Amino acid sequence: MKRIQEIQKKYYGKIDLPDLELIISRVIKKPREFVLARPEHEISKNYELRIKNYVKRRINGEPIAYIFGEKEFYGLNFKVNKNTLVPRPETELMVDEAIKLRQQTADSKRQDIVFLDIGTGSGCIIISLIKNLIYSKYKIQNTKFIATDISSPALRLARQNAKLHKVDKKIKFLQGNLLEPIIKNKKLKIENCKLMILANLPYLTPTQIKNSPSIQHEPKLALTAGRDGLKYYRRLLKQIKTLLSSRKFALDSRVFAIMEIDPSQTAEIKKIIKDNLPNAKVQIKKDLSGLNRFAAIILQNQQ
Ligand SMILES: C[S@@+](CC[C@H](N)C(=O)[O-])C[C@H]1O[C@@H](n2cnc3c(N)ncnc32)[C@H](O)[C@@H]1O
Repeated sequence: MKRIQEIQKKYYGKIDLPDLELIISRVIKKPREFVLARPEHEISKNYELRIKNYVKRRINGEPIAYIFGEKEFYGLNFKVNKNTLVPRPETELMVDEAIKLRQQTADSKRQDIVFLDIGTGSGCIIISLIKNLIYSKYKIQNTKFIATDISSPALRLARQNAKLHKVDKKIKFLQGNLLEPIIKNKKLKIENCKLMILANLPYLTPTQIKNSPSIQHEPKLALTAGRDGLKYYRRLLKQIKTLLSSRKFALDSRVFAIMEIDPSQTAEIKKIIKDNLPNAKVQIKKDLSGLNRFAAIILQNQQ
């Protein structure tokens, strides 16, 4: 039997202290405060071996979220695995924006709204959005939710998360390339709806990936996007143009798409949007560190 303080001493400096505290607390099934307050508490051999194994995985760079199979996002717990990106705190701002959009349009001519979450991964954006709308005064009447991903295993997990949060009946999950499954599926009843596209697509360059040891365990499919990281947003904007010309939507001067980007992509994303939607206005929104993080598309009038 070893005491907590002995375990802490053994691994001190090998991994971050908060990670070590979390590992100990998860293994011994006690709150983190207990780990801090009771250094003399004795840990069984069995627990000690499990801590050793988790610390080893963490030293190898595996994210804590994969080790425990879950990550908190927007105050909710999401299952994650090696097929899905670990949801990032900065992406929570996209949910904030989507909630604001829903509120701004609440009064508008009773038009249905359709949210499209493109590249849904664990489903964290769309599920958090629904869970928050359900408890707001706007609820989710007249609102549809569709999520797409190219990765079947990611979609499988998104469905599981939706079930876990009891919103699986509210979301239509479609597998395919960005908007393609929506463009091709003429049976989807989205005509005359207000369209709101949310997209956190892969946006890193191969160099950024090479230089970030912390993301090596995450799926390349969720991260890498060609030489300048904008391959998928170029494709998405083309598809948005096709979607707008093939269906009739209720477009007005409000934001209708939000895309997460790398700050270095600000000028180029504006250009890509203008090239495809010349009448659109672009607003760049910052994350909590003050960095350009989202490109919002505001459509002035029907394209
Ligand atoms: C950066 S991750 C974001 C995941 C999740 N939305 C989040 O914010 O945590 C990008 C997601 O896009 C998906 N993806 C990559 N290429 C795609 C494509 N061509 N069409 C649809 N989804 C794609 C990946 O599988 C991945 O789940």
